[in-house]
Amino acid sequence: MNKDKIVLKIEKLSKRFPGVQALQSIDFDLKRGEVHVLLGENGAGKSTLVKILSGSLLQDSGTIFLDGEKVNFFSPEEAQNRGIAMVYQELDLIPSISIAENIFLGRYPLKKLFGIIDWRQVYHEAEKIFKENFNLEIDVRREVKRFGVAIQQLTAIARALSQNPKVLILDEPTSALSPLECQQLFKIIRNLKKRGVSIIFISHRLKETFEIGDRVTILRNGEKVNTLLVKDVSEQDLVRMMLGREADKETVREKTSVGDEILRVKDLTKEGMFYKCNLRLYQGEILGITGLMGAGRTEFAKSLFGVLNPDKGEVYIQGRRVKIRSPKDAIRAGIGYLNENRMEGLVPFLSIAGNITLASLNYICKMGLLMKDKEKSISKRFVDELEIHPPELEREVRYFSGGNQQKVALSRWLCNRSKILILDEPTRGIDVGAKEEVFRLMSRLSKEGISIIMISSEMPEVLRMADRILVMHKGRFVAEYKRGEATQEDLLLAAAGGEKNARI
Ligand SMILES: Nc1ncnc2c1ncn2[C@@H]1O[C@H](COP(=O)(O)OP(=O)(O)OP(=O)(O)O)[C@@H](O)[C@H]1O
Ligand SMILES: [Mg+2]
Repeated sequence: MNKDKIVLKIEKLSKRFPGVQALQSIDFDLKRGEVHVLLGENGAGKSTLVKILSGSLLQDSGTIFLDGEKVNFFSPEEAQNRGIAMVYQELDLIPSISIAENIFLGRYPLKKLFGIIDWRQVYHEAEKIFKENFNLEIDVRREVKRFGVAIQQLTAIARALSQNPKVLILDEPTSALSPLECQQLFKIIRNLKKRGVSIIFISHRLKETFEIGDRVTILRNGEKVNTLLVKDVSEQDLVRMMLGREADKETVREKTSVGDEILRVKDLTKEGMFYKCNLRLYQGEILGITGLMGAGRTEFAKSLFGVLNPDKGEVYIQGRRVKIRSPKDAIRAGIGYLNENRMEGLVPFLSIAGNITLASLNYICKMGLLMKDKEKSISKRFVDELEIHPPELEREVRYFSGGNQQKVALSRWLCNRSKILILDEPTRGIDVGAKEEVFRLMSRLSKEGISIIMISSEMPEVLRMADRILVMHKGRFVAEYKRGEATQEDLLLAAAGGEKNARI
């Protein structure tokens, strides 16, 4: 295998959206059997670049060469036919059909004789892909929407793998996966490399660059900063190139005094999801909940917010029993919930100002009338603080990059002044710089007396931010640690079901 063979090459690629130069004269190439990592802040142009390569966007100018031949893809199908498969950052699955159908949609295996879809084959193949690649046995006949984002992410990866691509593009594939699933994905990537498949890999977890990357290209504001061999750079170099300056110092969370009990959950159970969950949350506390994918954390959170109705158990807020049957009840009781899947929470056609203030209408409406300037001033604060880019309050949220959408989703709950905030994967898709801002805001809120449940698979982040950590395994809380008591290994072990030094 000729390792230096260039499979894909682009020259002077440019793309403009109204008001934003998303890409400015980018040169880039991809070698056979290499993992080329793309890095950059939120809105730097990473997704735009790979969407052009996969045929879902057309460039304004510039040339793409595939195996030395000049190509233009006018649709994703055209790119697929030429061996380019892509896993999108905002997953493009159809929620109401099965996992198997999503994998083979448009490419169903047919029965030889009659040319009709061979459903047995469809299910069998889908099961096989999950088993062989991810070592998972799941019911591929179930609808996609019944699964959490992690399985959805794996479904999208499975679909791309089933196309046997020559070039595989992965736009933030790991942001919804826990450490174990990431390792599994890296194993797959290493195998693909050996077979000569070339991979473009986007992630905000810089460590992953060193784990699987051969070369790295850094984008900033639509321009290319550099392309380097991964072995020649340090993490600090990468951050500097991404931000265009030195990184902010990590904020260390000041010790806060934790107040009275604000939330108590007793024996909360939802069959098939979580069992006999007990927790207490105190005023001003940040309680981390970590665990592996499918452990039941999100279902538990959704039950507290009234999206799911638990079968058994009780919830008390400030000592008073509450019954939460809908998100409306939850908001009224002072609970806010950032969905792990940001698009489930955002209204794509509404401006970012509208999205940010959506759960705070009581502050910005007077006698049923929306006070536009109030909406503006509140949302502007968050746009500035979290550096939402571009800082245009009236721009519809669907036009923002993934990380910037996440910042909008988070802002809604940061500004609504709930007493209790449940943040499900708050830093998903957010770049290194903005992460510090998010942590700073969380610290400030907790200091102001707001209690936060931080659900996260990012164990170092949980260790850094949480006053107390609960670990969930197969729908049960299996371990509890106070701040400083646990290491990442302890959390991983407990999450995998083999708790050590656990105190529950
Ligand atoms: N469909 C669109 N319409 C208008 N502007 C867009 C559209 N898609 C992206 N943009 C803008 O283009 C710029 C680059 O966005 P892109 O999605 O490529 O960023 P990214 O590097 O993938 O960021 P992230 O890390 O947040 O995913 C951003 O300023 C974004 O707001
Ligand atoms: Mg992106």
